[in-house]
Order: sequence, then structure tokens, then C-alpha cells
Amino acid sequence: MIIAVDGPTASGKGTIARALAAHFGLPHLDTGLLYRAVGRQCALNGGDPDDPQDALAACTFPDSMLDDPELRSEATGGLASRVSIHPDVRKALYERQRSFATQPGGAILDGRDIGTVIAPEADAKLFVTASVEARAERRHSEMLDQDRNVSIEEIAADLAARDKRDRSRKDSPLAIAEDALVIETSNLRREEAIAAAIAAVDALLAGR
Ligand code: DC
Repeated sequence: MIIAVDGPTASGKGTIARALAAHFGLPHLDTGLLYRAVGRQCALNGGDPDDPQDALAACTFPDSMLDDPELRSEATGGLASRVSIHPDVRKALYERQRSFATQPGGAILDGRDIGTVIAPEADAKLFVTASVEARAERRHSEMLDQDRNVSIEEIAADLAARDKRDRSRKDSPLAIAEDALVIETSNLRREEAIAAAIAAVDALLAGR
């Protein structure tokens, strides 16, 4: 069984994917982390994330990079969004995601193009979304928890810029798969969003 969870940044898709993985007993891959590792490696190399060759060279990052807390930062998220527009980068990361998705026993992946490109045959596809305002507010309170003070307006502007880049790139843009169920989390609390996602997956699996 393959479950695909796609959606924009800070929509709650990561939380939902982890909860679904625990509920259905499936291994989970956060594919954004792979793009974040490439963005971070590119910066460490002194490369330009907008340059296709520099971005491709950064696809050979050590596995230990995936545990680097810096991958979670907003700055690395921005670099990830920039390297992810290059088709060669997407190709270089394809096989790793594809073999995770098709492992015996099933898997759950979250990202931008899981239901459309990486696993179009997925048994259940969710598209998790929320308004820019709701997402910026969540990011803002996470940052306050970490004692980092960035204004909501700045965060909202950054999210909107990333959405635009992720949606408008030519190769595998963020898009809602035809057979995906959309979960709008703007007005849902964490537990409500998780319950809605489990119910949506159950309904999709029952309808197959
Ligand atoms: O989900 P995230 O914020 O960790 O993703 C960071 C960036 O990586 C995102 O802005 C676009 C890119 N990405 C992608 O292009 N395809 C994916 N499947 C996952 C992430």
C-alpha cells in the first residue's frame, strides 16, 4: 500500500504523514528533506542554487546530512525550493524516492509531486493545504517557541514566494493529483486534521 501526501510548505502535511505512518504501520519518507539536503550541500560547496550544474553537484551529499538540524531552517527551505526547480536535481533524487515508495509492505511519502510523479499509482492520495495566513501563524508560533523573533508578515511573504516557485516550475510543479482528496487545515486543530486524514485514507481505500 502506498500513501501519497502532497501540499505546500507548513500546511501540516508532515504532521499528517507521520501520524498516518504510525496509524497504518508504514515507513515514512519526508521527501522535502532530500531537497533540503541538496540546498544545504550546495551552500556548503559555495555553489549557486539557481545554477543547474552547482545544484546537480550538490546531489551527492553524505547520508549524515539528513540528520543535520540546519535542514529544518527557513533559510534551507528557501535553498531547497530553488534547487528543486532543476530537472537534473529531480532526476537525481527520483530513484531514491521511487524505491522507498515501492518497497515490499508499502510506504507513505510526503512532498510536492508524490501523487503526480513519484507514485502516480498510490492507493491513497491526499493534498493537504491551508491559507497562507494560517500557515504563517503556525510557523510564527513554532519560531517563538524556539525564541526566534520574525514577523508574521515576513514569514507570510516568504511562504508566498516559495508557493509561487513550487507551483510555477516547469518540472513536476506542486499540483493536486486528479484522484487526490483535499484536506483544508486552516480551521482545524492538529488532532482534527489527523482524524480527517485517517478518515480520508480509509474512504479512499474502501472505494478502490
Ligand atoms: O516540504 P519542504 O518545505 O521540506 O520542502 C522544501 C522544498 O523542497 C520545497 O519548497 C520544494 C522542494 N520539494 C520538491 O520540489 N518536491 C518534493 N517532493 C518535496 C520538496
